[in-house]
Amino acid sequence: MIDILLKDILKELNINRIVETGTDKAETIAETSRWFAAMDPEFGTIERQLKTEARSYRSWSVPIIYPIFSQARPSRYQIHSVDIDQYSYESAKKIFHSNPNIHLYHSSSEKFLTSLLNREIDRNRVDHNYLFFLDAHWGEYWPLRDELKIICKLRKYIIVIDDFMVPGKSNPSFPNGFFGFDIYKGQILNWSYICDLFTAVQVKIFYPSQPNRDHRGWVLITHGYSESELAFLKTLALFEINQFDKSHTLAVKPTWRSSCNARNILKQLVPISLLRSLYRGYEKIIYHFGCFFMPHKI
Ligand SMILES: C[S@@+](CC[C@H](N)C(=O)[O-])C[C@H]1O[C@@H](n2cnc3c(N)ncnc32)[C@H](O)[C@@H]1O
Repeated sequence: MIDILLKDILKELNINRIVETGTDKAETIAETSRWFAAMDPEFGTIERQLKTEARSYRSWSVPIIYPIFSQARPSRYQIHSVDIDQYSYESAKKIFHSNPNIHLYHSSSEKFLTSLLNREIDRNRVDHNYLFFLDAHWGEYWPLRDELKIICKLRKYIIVIDDFMVPGKSNPSFPNGFFGFDIYKGQILNWSYICDLFTAVQVKIFYPSQPNRDHRGWVLITHGYSESELAFLKTLALFEINQFDKSHTLAVKPTWRSSCNARNILKQLVPISLLRSLYRGYEKIIYHFGCFFMPHKI
């Protein structure tokens, strides 16, 4: 889930394209479409709020509330989101079908990014101000490095990677603790895993001083913006670390404790498609019958 802090960054840097990899339950689309709707009436008017069976990861008892739009006209603000999972794609498509400024794709993210950005890369210019929210996890193949290789060809970008280890804040032994982060096939998601992709590119790296609403860590990578354009970041709850600083370029190995993490072991033992089906079944039960055992939370 995207951090609320990004709302200010979006406004200040005049971002008009959010590109998300990993749609899932479209919680980030629900949030960011509200931001764009407040910035441009053409993006659409929120006509009503919709509650489906989908529940937030933040707390299993909190349903996700989706904005339903009317009067949307072609806007300079657009959201593009891709998921490899058909159910996620179709559910999001159903919810946001009334808004032509929200574009959904069913594909693997690296293929989607290649076709979305080819035109801008070929012309060696950027027509739009992009924020890439990279959050495609859980598959056999982890597309993050391939996504970054494509985005790095642009002359200007803002990248946010969710579930990222924050130096000095995340505890390597507790991947699901405060400032939580992903471990993928024994690889911790931190700057050391991707910094080689940026050795020939000058980037600025910012980390949040507070985790996001789901208690996860994240990172903000900027390229092509001037010092003065980024000066306002100093007023936000962020701290900067130089891209070559050893405090995040050195690999961090999972500890025995993080390797024994129950959630990660479960993910390795049970196919993710089965876990997701079970979770969706659980959500359906709560949606239809939850009022019998947790009436105050429905
Ligand atoms: C952590 S969830 C995304 C959460 C979502 N971004 C949000 O903020 O609510 C990860 C999603 O990435 C998707 N995914 C995994 N591998 C992918 C790939 N190669 N291409 C596109 N999506 C992928 C999964 O199907 C899953 O829905």
